[in-house]
Amino acid sequence: MPHNGKLYIETVGCQMNVLDSELVVAALRQQGYALTDDMKEADTVLFNTCSVREHAEQKIYSQLGRLRVARKKKPDQVIGVIGCMAQKDQELIFQKAPHVDLIVGTGQLAEIPRLIDEARRDRKPAIAVSLDRKEGSRLDVASSFESYDPLRDPEMRPSPWQAYVRIMFGCDKFCTYCVVPMTRGPEQSRAPSEIIREVQALVAQGVREVTLLGQTVNSYKFTENGRQSRMSDLLAAIHDTPGLQRIKFVTNFPKDMTDDLLQAIRDLPKVSRYLHVPLQHGCDEVLKRMKRGYTVTDYRDMMARIRETVPGAAVSSDFIVGFCGETEEAFQKCMDVVREFRFKNSFIFKYSPRPGTKANELWSDDIPEEVKRRRNNELLTLQNEISEEDNAEFLGRTVEVLVEGPSKRTTKAKGTTSGQMAEDANLNYPMPGVVESAVLAGHVHRDHDHDHDDAGCDTGCGTGALVSLDLGRSGSTVAAAAPRTEPVQLVGRTPCDRIVVFDGQPRLAGSIAEIHVHDCTPTTLLGSIVTRQIQHGNETLLPILM
Ligand code: 5AD
Ligand code: SF4
Repeated sequence: MPHNGKLYIETVGCQMNVLDSELVVAALRQQGYALTDDMKEADTVLFNTCSVREHAEQKIYSQLGRLRVARKKKPDQVIGVIGCMAQKDQELIFQKAPHVDLIVGTGQLAEIPRLIDEARRDRKPAIAVSLDRKEGSRLDVASSFESYDPLRDPEMRPSPWQAYVRIMFGCDKFCTYCVVPMTRGPEQSRAPSEIIREVQALVAQGVREVTLLGQTVNSYKFTENGRQSRMSDLLAAIHDTPGLQRIKFVTNFPKDMTDDLLQAIRDLPKVSRYLHVPLQHGCDEVLKRMKRGYTVTDYRDMMARIRETVPGAAVSSDFIVGFCGETEEAFQKCMDVVREFRFKNSFIFKYSPRPGTKANELWSDDIPEEVKRRRNNELLTLQNEISEEDNAEFLGRTVEVLVEGPSKRTTKAKGTTSGQMAEDANLNYPMPGVVESAVLAGHVHRDHDHDHDDAGCDTGCGTGALVSLDLGRSGSTVAAAAPRTEPVQLVGRTPCDRIVVFDGQPRLAGSIAEIHVHDCTPTTLLGSIVTRQIQHGNETLLPILM
């Protein structure tokens, strides 16, 4: 069937969804599709969805509602709902939005090009989902969720030097509030040989930083040729990739933060000294009902091991406020742990009851919305104070930054205040646990329930070697070859994942630069580039002249 080849895709959710969208778009581009920003003009519209909170689902239904009217003028448009909502709600989506043509779950994404063609040809709704967790043995259900990691199209990445790499998917923890074990299926790790091949291919395409993804990334385990690889083994193997500069990984589960993993982080300089390890709550009774499998004391012990083994590591967390039965006293314990652990940043979410989860089955959502909101704001204000205090420790210091590119503010307009810039850097560069971001077609959706802000890392977090602007360490020729352009506001991150904004040449994107920090907000360090002039052993720090 003829179509205009224009594809509109909107992505809601975590990095796993951003990666899935990247791969789906790459597959469709090979079939001749091109991305458009205009939903109405596209002959093919896909929504890659998230089910973690109700809010994210409502957004998709309201977008679908808009298309229902437009559909009358564009009867050939193929509309697909893919990802977590598709896996979880299946037929319900067809009932609520009968104009949807295609429903494809997280474990069936490879089917999308074929199903779009069929839907266009037959004008019949098509559905491809994996087995429900109750529909078969663990093995049967697991094999119905296929890892979708085809070869990459370098043009499809949000940035040419950063890439996500899935190392495991699914989850078997079954926290009582969470839909992920249903939407992503049983926990499965990918073979190290496959992952390493993928990293090597990405580095050959110019990637300098990989972020390894998994719902509980540090639970990674794979037995190959009779030998078990743990996360620490995998990190060591990936670390050997020549040309790769940074390795990050999200999201960690507290109980799986083993000593061998911490030692690997300590010993492998390319591994970011940044750990996102959601605590979720500060009260043991709530943690028990959440079925997290640890107490605050266990988490405290883990923090002590982190501080001891990887001094200067930055740790961030997620929290859920307003969980069923959360008393004021229990909430105050959340405030206490934020004070005690001084996270670099925390993502704070208001509890959203999710059909199909144990918490929804067992307890009523009894905390009023305004109480949830107040607790959310209180925790956020406290975290912001801590983040700002800890960021202030960086004033006057020089940090090593992997330059990600121009800030969004730069792309839009010039001449903004530092505060605006800082906020903007945050918006542009989603962090672990961020729910709702879309990079590919420029559709960015953020969940207003959470915030993130940076603080909490000592200077020792870097890889040690300070590198001057000629990028000796990366071997990059960026500085020499690129044409001169006007300096713009750039954004990058330190090895402990602090966001840094500074003015510089756009050509620096993808390189490592030293930034002298002279201001900060709770979320961001503000600084200027320094270079190092060597004169007979004497070093002078000079500002870069544009
Ligand atoms: N309601 C609110 N927040 C949730 N999260 C997971 N499930 C829910 C829910 N039902 C949060 C957790 C998790 C993050 C990605 O989303 O904090 O770490
Ligand atoms: Fe959800 Fe994370 Fe718990 Fe798994 S470990 S059930 S993904 S909150």
